[in-house]
Amino acid sequence: DGVTVIDHPLVQHKLTIMRKKDTSTAGFRRLLREISTLLCYEVTRELALTHENIETPLTEMDAPVLAGKKLVFASILRAGNGLLEGMLDLVPSARVAHIGLYRDHDTLQAIEYYFKAPEDISDRLVIVVDPMLATANSSISAVEKLKERGAHNLRFLCLLAAPEGVEAFRKAHPDVPVYTASIDSHLNEKGYIVPGLGDAGDRMYG
Ligand code: PRP
Repeated sequence: DGVTVIDHPLVQHKLTIMRKKDTSTAGFRRLLREISTLLCYEVTRELALTHENIETPLTEMDAPVLAGKKLVFASILRAGNGLLEGMLDLVPSARVAHIGLYRDHDTLQAIEYYFKAPEDISDRLVIVVDPMLATANSSISAVEKLKERGAHNLRFLCLLAAPEGVEAFRKAHPDVPVYTASIDSHLNEKGYIVPGLGDAGDRMYG
């Protein structure tokens, strides 16, 4: 149904350490970077391949290479950058979009303060990254903005999701598959994912 839970044991183990309230800022940051390479591996699993003729030291061969244009990673600031770094470790040639959004603490609406995307995103796969999918206000608005700029092949990758957020996101953007390491229990009255890991941006940057 368009939602993939990445249940790889290394992902699950690292996520558990990230959830612990006593994990330090440095530890949290490092784990997010490590986990994001594993999530990237899964979200890119179905990418199309083509073949290129190469020469090994012994002979010629038709060898598989990624088909199509370079990927775009769209990071929802601030916390998205934690995922972005590890993704770029695996796909160093990806293009990057930055979308600055913060949640108004009272209304939980996403307020945009920055948007910068590469010009030509319409014929590229755009992977939107943010550790948290809570109410989904941020991710829905980020994807809307990218679609306005012509993107029509998108995926959304997060670390943790609330069931309410997954439902709202899928309703708003049924064409955009969601990848997450966990769907937690629920959202609390302040819009935090429970049990969750707290505020990812604060845990990374203070
Ligand atoms: C957090 C998180 C997501 C958003 C998720 O960002 O990193 O971007 O909230 O919530 P939503 O699904 O209800 O929109 P925050 O506003 O704390 O900003 P920050 O990343 O800059 O700390």
